[in-house]
Formats: sequence, structure tokens, C-alpha cells
Amino acid sequence: MSAVADIGLIGLAVMGQNLILNMADKGFTVAAYNRTTSKVDHFLENEAKGKSIVGAHSIEELCSQLKTPRKIILLVKAGDAVDSFIDQLEPFLEKGDIIIDGGNSHFPDSVRRTAALEKKGLLFVGSGVSGGEEGARHGPSIMPGGAPDAWPHIKEIFQKTAAQVDGQPCCDWVGESGSGHYVKMVHNGIEYGDMQLITEAYDILKRGFGMSEGEIAAVFETWNKGVLDSYLIEITTEILKYNDDDGVPLVTKILDSASQKGTGKWTAVNALDLGMPVTLIGEAVFSRCLSSIKEERVRASKVLGGPQIEAFTGDKKQFIDDLEQALYASKIVSYAQGFMLMREAAKEYKWNLNYSGIALMWRGGCIIRSVFLGDITSAYTKNPNLENLLFDDFFNKAIHKAQPGWRRIIAQTALWGIPTPAFSTALSFFDGYRTERLPASLLQAQRDYFGAHTFRILPQFYSDKYAEGQDVHVNWTGRGGNVSASTYSA
Ligand SMILES: *[C@@H]1O[C@H](CO)[C@@H](O)[C@H](O)[C@H]1NC(C)=O
Ligand SMILES: *[C@@H]1O[C@H](CO)[C@@H](O)[C@H](O)[C@H]1NC(C)=O
Repeated sequence: MSAVADIGLIGLAVMGQNLILNMADKGFTVAAYNRTTSKVDHFLENEAKGKSIVGAHSIEELCSQLKTPRKIILLVKAGDAVDSFIDQLEPFLEKGDIIIDGGNSHFPDSVRRTAALEKKGLLFVGSGVSGGEEGARHGPSIMPGGAPDAWPHIKEIFQKTAAQVDGQPCCDWVGESGSGHYVKMVHNGIEYGDMQLITEAYDILKRGFGMSEGEIAAVFETWNKGVLDSYLIEITTEILKYNDDDGVPLVTKILDSASQKGTGKWTAVNALDLGMPVTLIGEAVFSRCLSSIKEERVRASKVLGGPQIEAFTGDKKQFIDDLEQALYASKIVSYAQGFMLMREAAKEYKWNLNYSGIALMWRGGCIIRSVFLGDITSAYTKNPNLENLLFDDFFNKAIHKAQPGWRRIIAQTALWGIPTPAFSTALSFFDGYRTERLPASLLQAQRDYFGAHTFRILPQFYSDKYAEGQDVHVNWTGRGGNVSASTYSA
């Protein structure tokens, strides 16, 4: 067979098949390969029939079908399978050919693979793809990063295949090395946070107000016409309206134990590694952990009492508006934290990240798509060097407007004993972030007291006694020595 295909794809699970069909619909010829070759034949005879799709029964055949520079997308299980396919492809590739990992790889793997393939003259791209099976078929959000020389060759295919919002593709070059998978990881972390916030709002309306699923769906439906307009609010409305055969909302029958693995946790771990206070995503992951110890919670519910939830006597309409503002403000904090993390990662890993481009990619196709991301795009377009989303005029005004309601919700839910880990951590972050002087001074004193870790003095107290940059140690008790600890830390 001659080299006819614009791009090849390995891994014909549903995502892979859908992405191939999508690319074919956009006018590209795609070569398809799967290790189980019967899968290839079945695909060609069915879904792919009559489309610009060719099948390959070996890696060698796949490579021979591709125009140069060859471009191959791997949609296989993250981990060893990716390395294994890269090894299998190498003998049939030439300098300048491009391997794209479109799976859910952890970004350090993409960092490693970009470097390893560069040494061999091959271009590696680690690309986040979000949107699930539907997105893959009709337009996902695609976040490619890796060897920059690959981008001009894949740009047209990727941007045409991606979701489009207001005529702009939800795909752009993210940056060097593992940055594509990194940005996808942060996207998923933010998704964890958004989901957690929505579940907290649901819990407050259900347990605090005693509202039914149908009534809550109506509230969410209204919210979906305002600042919270988003895919996740939309699907939540549909979920709440979904009744089982007996007329009971199905959600009330689902075991309340959520698993967490992969990307949400990776985001939280990376935030700790980089020393960034990405508290909302962290709480979202921990909330899932708490949910998953269901049996222990059931036992605890028998022995640990709390306040009785009393009927709400205040203005119900006002409370629901407050809740909308609390959700909005918490969401602003969550995205501000996510972008703080990406800024730090760009510094740490030496990537050039384009934040308005990232927000633009997330506006459509992916799970966190929302009107809100349009506002983030505007903020970073206006000022690409924006230090923090909360410094942007639009978001600064929005969070100030939301603040009173946000506080009322957290105060009321604390009195009720309804947990709001994400709402609360967002507010604590906000209050900490806007505080000029934190009690970390006392913490530094404690560290110096028990471990002689030393501390620095505030500039207004520089004097003969305390110089700028001086590590001060005090003998707090008048006992013991004056030696400072420089070799260990607590
Ligand atoms: C091939 O097809 C099988 C069966 O659908 C699937 O489980 C597997 O993940 C596919 N991918 C590869 C790389 O062979
Ligand atoms: C960043 O991305 C935006 C949107 O895709 C684009 O208009 C802009 O030119 C990019 N900036 C840089 C410096 O690449």
C-alpha cells in the first residue's frame, strides 16, 4: 500500500475509534491499527465503512501507509503500553517523524519521552484530550505539548478535529516537553473541584432546605442561565431529574462512595511538590477519600452527634442567591489556584505557557467547559502577565460582590453541621491571600524555640541589632546553647 494517510492511530477502543471518525469527517485520511487485528477489520467493515480510513495489520504496515513526516497518535493505556508501542514504532520511523501520546499519561513520563525521542531525531508530543467519548467523536479539547517542531505538522489536523467555540478551535500549542499532559492534569484537578462544589450546593439545598431533587434541578437550571452556565451544571440538572422506574430519583439510590485516582491526586501532589496552595483541588480529592470510608462513617454517624438542622426561617430566595454566589466565588478561587499552579510549573520546568490560550482550549469540548472560561480568556488576553486571576478587574469585582453571600452560606452551614470542605477552603484561602500579616511569625518563633531554625525580621525593624538578610536565633528560655540548626528542618 502506498503512503496515503495523513495520520495514523493506534488503539481502537471507543475513544480511538471516535477520534478517527472525527478526523475522517474533517477531511483527513486516517490509518487505524490495533494489536488485536480482528478489531481493525471489524472497524473497517462497520463504523469506518465508506470513510477515508485505511486499516493496518502490523506496525510496519501502519508506518508504510503514512505520508512523511509520519504522525502517529497512541491512544493506549497510560504506562508501559505507551513505551512498548514507541519501541515497536521506532524501527519503521525516520528522523522528523512524530509520535503523539493522546492518552492519560502522567506528565513526567511525557517529559522523559520527549527527551528520549529527541535524542533519536524523533518528535514526541504528549497531548491531553478531554471530552470523553462524545468529545472525541464531535470535537474534544486537545492540549498538545512536547517537541515544538512537531506543531506546524499537526496543527491543521488537531485544530480542525477539536471543538470550536465562536469560530476558534479548543486546541493550541501548550508548550514544551510534558506541558500538554501537565495542563490536562490541572484541567482534571479543576474538574474535581468543580464537581465537589456542585455536590456541596446540592447537599445544602437537600439537607439544609429539605428540597427534593426535582426542586434542586430547577434551581440549577436557573443557575445554568447565569454566571455558572457550564457543562457540569447542565449534566447535574439532568441527573437530578432522572428517575428510576419506580419514580424515585436515581441519585438517591447511588452508594455515596467516590473513588479518586490519577489526575486529581496528581494535581494535589504536584501542588505540594511545588509548594503552591491549591487547596480546593486538595479538598476535593480528600472529600472523595472521606466518602470512600463509608462503613466507618456509618459507625461514626451513630456515636458522633451534631446540631439539629432547624427549619430555615430567613429569606429563602436570598439564601439561594447567596449559594449561587458562594459557588461562583469558590470557583473563581479554584481557577485562580489552578493558574497559580501552572505559573509555578512553567517557572520550575522552564516552559512557556500561554494562559489565555489554555483558557481558550478549555472553553469548549472538555468537561469543565463554561461561560466562565471565556471570562478567564479575556482576563489573560488583556494582560498575559496577570499575576493572579483575582487581580483582574472583572474577577476582582465579581468576588467582592459575591463575598457577603459566600460568608453567610459558610456561617449557616457550619451552624447546621453540613460539611462544605470546598466552599470553606476557598474562603479561607481568599482570607489568607488578602491578609498582609499572617500568624506565620509565631510559627517561625516556635520553630526557632524548639529547633533553633532561625527567623528573619520585618524590614521596619532593621537596626544595629537586626540586619537585612540576617538569620536571627534567640535563646528563648535563657537555657541551652545558641547554636542554630541549619542541617535539619521541622
Ligand atoms: C485493541 O482492541 C482491544 C479490544 O477492543 C482493546 O482492548 C485494546 O485496548 C486495543 N488497543 C490496542 C493498542 O491494541
Ligand atoms: C496565546 O494564545 C492566544 C490564543 O490562542 C493567541 O492569540 C496569542 O497569540 C498567544 N500568545 C503567544 C505569545 O503565543
